[in-house]
Amino acid sequence: MRTVTRTRAVHAAIGHDSAPRHVSGEALYIDDIPEPPGLLHLVAGRSDRAHARIVRLDLSAVRAAPGVVAVLTPADVPGRNDISPFAGDDPLFAGDEVMFHGQPLFCVAAESLPKARAAAALAVVAYEDLPALLEAEAAVGAGSLIEPTQTLRLGDARAAIAAAPRRLSGRLRIGGQEHFYLEGQVALVIPGEGQDLHVWTSTQHPTETQHILARVLGCPDAAVTVEVRRMGGGFGGKETQSVQWAAMAALAARLTRRPAKIRLDRDDDMAMTGKRHDFVTDWRLGYDAEGRLRGAAFEMASRCGFSADLSHAINDRAMFHSDNAYALPAAEIVSHRARTHTVSNTAFRGFGGPQGMMGIERALDAVALDLGLDPLDVRLTNLYGVAGDLTPYGQRVTDAVAHELMTELAEACDYRARRAAVRRWNAGDGHLKRGLALTPVKFGISFTTTHLNQAGALVHVYTDGSIHLNHGGTEMGQGLNIKVAQVAADAFQVPLGSVRITSTRTDKVPNTSATAASSGSDLNGMAALDACEQIKARLAAWAREAFGHAPVFTPDGVQVGPERLSFRDFVNRAWMARISLSAAGFYRTPDIHYDRATHTGRPFYYYAYGAACSEVAVDTLTGENRVLRTDILHDVGRSLNPAIDLGQIEGGFVQGMGWLTTEELVFDGEGRLTTHAPSTYKIPTAGDRPPVFNIAIWDRGENREDTVHRSKAVGEPPLMLAISVFSALTDAVAAVGGHRVLPDLDAPATPERILAAVADVRRRAAG
Ligand code: MTE
Ligand code: MOS
Repeated sequence: MRTVTRTRAVHAAIGHDSAPRHVSGEALYIDDIPEPPGLLHLVAGRSDRAHARIVRLDLSAVRAAPGVVAVLTPADVPGRNDISPFAGDDPLFAGDEVMFHGQPLFCVAAESLPKARAAAALAVVAYEDLPALLEAEAAVGAGSLIEPTQTLRLGDARAAIAAAPRRLSGRLRIGGQEHFYLEGQVALVIPGEGQDLHVWTSTQHPTETQHILARVLGCPDAAVTVEVRRMGGGFGGKETQSVQWAAMAALAARLTRRPAKIRLDRDDDMAMTGKRHDFVTDWRLGYDAEGRLRGAAFEMASRCGFSADLSHAINDRAMFHSDNAYALPAAEIVSHRARTHTVSNTAFRGFGGPQGMMGIERALDAVALDLGLDPLDVRLTNLYGVAGDLTPYGQRVTDAVAHELMTELAEACDYRARRAAVRRWNAGDGHLKRGLALTPVKFGISFTTTHLNQAGALVHVYTDGSIHLNHGGTEMGQGLNIKVAQVAADAFQVPLGSVRITSTRTDKVPNTSATAASSGSDLNGMAALDACEQIKARLAAWAREAFGHAPVFTPDGVQVGPERLSFRDFVNRAWMARISLSAAGFYRTPDIHYDRATHTGRPFYYYAYGAACSEVAVDTLTGENRVLRTDILHDVGRSLNPAIDLGQIEGGFVQGMGWLTTEELVFDGEGRLTTHAPSTYKIPTAGDRPPVFNIAIWDRGENREDTVHRSKAVGEPPLMLAISVFSALTDAVAAVGGHRVLPDLDAPATPERILAAVADVRRRAAG
């Protein structure tokens, strides 16, 4: 018998299935779907106050405007006027009180978009202004929180810090971030018979959209079908905040019995949807003369906005990542979740983890500066696996590989020699200063809300041997569909081209979780595998009976004893024998548990790791700066698809770099977002990509847990590799004062902030 080789589908570097269509323009987004006859276009009327009572809302001119078919207000909602994921505090339309600048008050449905927009502008609103809490600190001071302050404790951190040979403390402000998905929020709803609605929406969470629309409309979940072919990016911004728009379109469709579409323009999208939470973090460390930590305390306050949205879990994740990759012998992590009169902040790649990590990375830079040590050495000394293995939430880190990654990367990118070169460069008297930093990432994988860690899939094998596959995850550019298709192709040992994945739909795979927490391929890959294995088990049972042999699936067909059949003939014969060739698969992550009351347990199935080294130059006369070179070594376990994973690592890093350098959200004193377009809000461009950019997938990566083909999640962790840029910028600014004082540099490190930090360091170093 010839040797059985496996198809190369899994672990092969295969391009994104949509890539050619993205380039040719054939990839269909919701706004590309041919518009049905009778389509209504929706525009939401928004508040222009941060906090006010509505004294009068006169919509008569809106209703009378040309082309207007319906004007929707809270009074038109047949079910509940609430689109919140769980807290019940997110009205579809504001009632008597507006809670942020940009909050939807009503919605116009008109024959065309320009008519809807013109009509919406005719609303007459009289407000009675109320005091507004705009910043996290002000809200915390006033006791305005979305839930009580949470604390995570390991040992007695205060005593440990007090008893340590050395102590330092500081404050870091960390800015928020706009998702800037290229495809904005959009939904199209077509009413069917009776109460039925078909909803196309750009969402990471079809199931929650279905359930909330049913709640708003007062109809059964089963009447609402939600379909998502792809998103033009989500990045967390379409985990909950896509629902509002789908709900408006659904309501319009229900009330008018006509198809309805809503597509926010960029300015509305930026002002009306939530962003990454901005944080203020106070840190305190106790340590010894070698830079070994004795205790750490972090007190964080985040701006959640007017409602809870996902802020509980986001701030929990910030607490869980306050240690980043470092074993803290004693820790106290306090998290205040401020309720403010601003848009409700939401999930954004990393889900609070990036903000959590920033505190300890700044603190370790401070320790290195204080002791005159290389920051890399201080980092290496304190890593899990070197200094300990117990996290502040009681999970043991049994897979610590950060030390290996960091030392391998340091060698590969010639860190030590370049550190010396940077020192020599900075010893000159030029106005350009350089900085270098090598930082780790350790990111916990699983939804910390345990029950969300489940997924489903639906696999049909047709009698021609082609395979139709659906799963509960959504495609947002991250390559989930190609990865799941690879898993299915491998299971049956058929060419990848035999597997076809179509839209995610709630009537095919029900009760799914959001595609989020980087767990899309972990969960849906396993669910698809389960479905394939069920079909294979049926085929095997039949073949043993029919042929007297168990089948072996090979790339050259199915070997059944001495006989070899093509996959097509094999499944066709199984069908003739009345074997079901369709199965629903299911998966739930094993061995995880978490008690939120005590903040202890094993919230994460495993950790994803990475390390990045960035070198920057800062112009001390203008504050302008550039990343000159970045080297990354990232652990994706055994990569399902190295081409996709490299793209995720590169994209995540660049998105993180934007967050920490150029992307600045500026709200004015009235709570109005002033940076609501690309003219004033600067995401990185191709020109900001480091001119030397070496990305490597760690070739010894392997998931010790039983994940799909031993791969690791990759979606979010690389974003935090960009902390190396922030740390390198801090290092470059410190050079101005001969590395004697710690720069007071907040994020994003814009040229203005860098210039101010340079002046401040000069003053303090001289004084
Ligand atoms: N990559 C692209 N191209 N577009 C996106 O919207 N979202 C990120 C990440 N990578 C995103 C992306 C976020 S926030 C998450 S949680 C994961 O992808 C979700 O997909 P996954 O779980 O399948 O990795
Ligand atoms: Mo990602 S922030 O978990 O959608």
